[in-house]
Amino acid sequence: MSAGAKKYNQKMMFDFKESTVLKDFLKFENISFRNISQQNAMFPIGGITCITGVSGSGKSTLATAVAESFDKNRAKKYGEIYGGESIKRIIKVTQSPIGKTPRSTVASYLEIFDEIRTLFSKISAAKKLKLSPSMFSMNVKGGRCECCQGTGLQKIELNFLPSTYITCPECNGQRYSDEILSVTYQGKTILDVLETPISEIIEIFRDTKKYIRF
Ligand SMILES: Nc1ncnc2c1ncn2[C@@H]1O[C@H](COP(=O)(O)OP(=O)(O)OP(=O)(O)O)[C@@H](O)[C@H]1O
Ligand SMILES: [Mg+2]
Ligand SMILES: [Zn+2]
Repeated sequence: MSAGAKKYNQKMMFDFKESTVLKDFLKFENISFRNISQQNAMFPIGGITCITGVSGSGKSTLATAVAESFDKNRAKKYGEIYGGESIKRIIKVTQSPIGKTPRSTVASYLEIFDEIRTLFSKISAAKKLKLSPSMFSMNVKGGRCECCQGTGLQKIELNFLPSTYITCPECNGQRYSDEILSVTYQGKTILDVLETPISEIIEIFRDTKKYIRF
């Protein structure tokens, strides 16, 4: 490693300014791994942290050290961690598609959407209509609107101009067939579940510990 990179590395570690809003921190001290030697880092809990630095300065190394420190199956120790009690798990997201298709959502990545689809398929209205869990997906054929393939939008190709999108005239942007949207859980359709912020929709799963846990 060049002297320049090493200098930058130190700067990267110590340039952290304590937030006035976020008070809770994960503190990682005395980190030694690859080109990181006895450095300290702090990450606010409940906030977004971005690690920046020149190529080779140790960004991926730092991220790997943090992630692996929470992996109970690995006995590797890169430093001492303080304040990580509230962290349940670490999920590594890379440039590779997060699910079977690039249209997968965070919900499908966490596998909670599989559970929600199953829950919807077990509702008596769904059973009567013989709706399977996969029919509650907008990424595969079955319950989605086939006119827009579950996007709720239709692409309009324009000569000499970039393509534009309009609301799908078949489903009016509802993405699913009327049959699928006739099934509700606590008054919410599968589309409501997808479109309502987690902080609100979590209320309908209040009694389902399994979902709250995710
Ligand atoms: N799997 C590995 N095994 C051993 N050394 C590695 C490994 N990956 C990276 N390194 C070394 O660790 C040092 C830091 O590299 P790292 O990949 O963490 O930098 P980076 O800041 O993430 O760079 P980039 O911006 O290119 O992604 C470099 O000297 C690199 O050669
Ligand atoms: Mg990297
Ligand atoms: Zn449609």
